[in-house]
Amino acid sequence: MLNTFSPAVTLEGGIPVSGSEVLETTTPPADLWVRGLTKRFEAATPVLKGVAFQVKAGQRVALIGANGAGKSTLLRCCMHLIPPDSGEVRLFGTPLAGLDAAALRRLRSQVGFVFQKHNLVPRLSALSNVLHGALPRTPLAQAWFQGLAPAPLRHEALHCLERVGLSHIALRRADKLSGGQSQRVAVARALMQRPRLIVADEPAASLDPVAGDEVMALFSGLVKDEGLTMVFTSHDLTHAVRYADRVIALQRGEIVLDAMSHEVNVAELRSLYA
Ligand SMILES: Nc1ncnc2c1ncn2[C@@H]1O[C@H](COP(=O)(O)OP(=O)(O)O)[C@@H](O)[C@H]1O
Ligand SMILES: [Mg+2]
Repeated sequence: MLNTFSPAVTLEGGIPVSGSEVLETTTPPADLWVRGLTKRFEAATPVLKGVAFQVKAGQRVALIGANGAGKSTLLRCCMHLIPPDSGEVRLFGTPLAGLDAAALRRLRSQVGFVFQKHNLVPRLSALSNVLHGALPRTPLAQAWFQGLAPAPLRHEALHCLERVGLSHIALRRADKLSGGQSQRVAVARALMQRPRLIVADEPAASLDPVAGDEVMALFSGLVKDEGLTMVFTSHDLTHAVRYADRVIALQRGEIVLDAMSHEVNVAELRSLYA
């Protein structure tokens, strides 16, 4: 059954009593809370037109939509990597508007990013690349090169590699890894950040179908097992249905579907592209 999205606005974490008074409830804030997000580049048509959604802790959300629908722009605006024109974003309950660069960086350090292009440092080992996930919380000299890392940090990085099934090639140079292995290292690097939320933009798009499926199965399984929250974009509708708890479809900058993945199937999702 296909549920079309209705942008009902609900107040999180409190019941409005009067203009300024709010009764506290025990509902935790959503990990990501977005209202009225708009963004326009130079072109006349806005790329995002008042996007609203929220993602609660522990949920895995697939963001789908045709090329140019605005998926990457939405992810970037949600993290204030590019500034939205209007609207509000709250990350782990904290409004991003008005935060200075240091505060924004601190908040973002709880978000693990994985992109289509893995961005590993080619001449460094898989292990050193994973270690880089600790850079926001560790001095550069200790978190750049595995040989200089203190034992606990090195063990943690090895453990992250183990979780993606690559501890046996920890010391292999990144430029000697296959595409699938490289993306697994990028996942391990994101885990090394000890994130609460994972944001992944087309994490499997540069891989062949088999490797892409393996990486998504592993990635989504780890996120679920560790109780993390995840938002990933994908143009593979099977991945969206199989590896997310919920699917949000974007069409020309607007949400046209927001449904639990067990409520939709690939054919229904494909019809949104027509
Ligand atoms: N930095 C930018 N400058 C100008 N236009 C951009 C920029 N980034 C994205 N766009 C435009 O915004 C639209 C949405 O792009 P994008 O968010 O990358 O879509 P998707 O990820 O869904 O393919 C496209 O028309 C794209 O050309
Ligand atoms: Mg994109």
